[in-house]
Amino acid sequence: MNKAMDMCALSLFILTLAVAVLVAFMAGPASPLTWSLVGVLVLIPVVRRKFRDRRRIDWKDEYSVGIESIDEQHKKLINLINMLQTSVDYSTGEEFERECLAAVVDYTKTHFVYEEGLMSKYDYPDFEAHKVQHQAMTDKVEDLLAAYEEHPESAMKDALDFLKQWLIRHINGTDKQYSEFLVSKGAH
Ligand SMILES: [Fe+2]
Ligand SMILES: [Fe+2]
Repeated sequence: MNKAMDMCALSLFILTLAVAVLVAFMAGPASPLTWSLVGVLVLIPVVRRKFRDRRRIDWKDEYSVGIESIDEQHKKLINLINMLQTSVDYSTGEEFERECLAAVVDYTKTHFVYEEGLMSKYDYPDFEAHKVQHQAMTDKVEDLLAAYEEHPESAMKDALDFLKQWLIRHINGTDKQYSEFLVSKGAH
């Protein structure tokens, strides 16, 4: 079932519940069952919001690599990926979804160029290995973009899953490896 059908089924369910509650109230004093239905109606948006929030990434202090400029860029990447997730969750339309995806891809490349510049400037010994990882990520993103052109809906889910997993691994794993070295050289 695609997303539009999901939304349609949910809207129909909410409408049916609302009508049932209305009819029950009009028929006489509210029974416990009527109040239960009201409870379900109230809880639906709360539960949906909870699920949506769980799909977002939140910045944690433990993600810091100790270099302010890079932390700021990582935060911006998190924001861009969250914005992409929101555009999908709220079905804002393919045009905006594409803009969000392009913004994530563009900023990821900008970020890599910046990081590589710092590593090169301070002669980071594992510069080449880190660069290879950036290139692997860039290649994967290009694959995802090609898949998105063919199957926008299914490819977007894969893209989001990959981007979120990759971002945390990148921030909290790969980038932590250069942290001590670059901080000791005075990078900020
Ligand atoms: Fe990074
Ligand atoms: Fe990196």
